[in-house]
Amino acid sequence: ADPEPVQDFCVAAATNGSADHPSYPGFPCKPASAVVSDDFFFAGLARSGAADAAESPFGSSVTSGNVAAFPGLNTLGVSINRVDLAPGGVNPLHSHPRAAELVHVVSGQMLVGFVSTAGTFYSKVVREGESFVIPRGMVHFQFNTGKESARAVTVFNSQLPGVVLAAPSLFGADPEIPDAVLSKSFQVDGEIIKLLKSKFRT
Ligand code: GLV
Ligand code: MN
Repeated sequence: ADPEPVQDFCVAAATNGSADHPSYPGFPCKPASAVVSDDFFFAGLARSGAADAAESPFGSSVTSGNVAAFPGLNTLGVSINRVDLAPGGVNPLHSHPRAAELVHVVSGQMLVGFVSTAGTFYSKVVREGESFVIPRGMVHFQFNTGKESARAVTVFNSQLPGVVLAAPSLFGADPEIPDAVLSKSFQVDGEIIKLLKSKFRT
């Protein structure tokens, strides 16, 4: 989904560890004479997220390999994450505004699903060695349906897919979305909105 590259590569000179960038597309290039093999290498996903998943209230951990972590991806239109799920854990409902997502299960098994713009829920239990694809922008999740921990690698057709977490974006926004808006939108009592805000506002 990203723009086509106009040169072999453009290793990001600096990403300031953030997704903020003043130029388009992507980040300014490091001088080609300074580019080394390590700029095309990323070891961040070698670290297991299993312990983090076990500690998280969701039972999940996502390690990101987007351009902010892996500057060599700049202008290449791809990125990769690692998803670790404890038994019963969920990578909670979210969407990516700038990319489709290919979910490849490396170990264990997980229910992977998304909802289309027509409101149809598509899902599948995906096992070791199998893959599932999430179309761009669709709300989706991964849920560990096995007894062991599960792990997937997710691949995106954007260097910075972006993530909108469904519950935190609605109930944890800062400043907060007025209760009246949420209450009317969800057709529930204000008390329910207050309860949800108490879970997602920090
Ligand atoms: C999984 O859904 C991910 O975004 O890595
Ligand atoms: Mn995702």
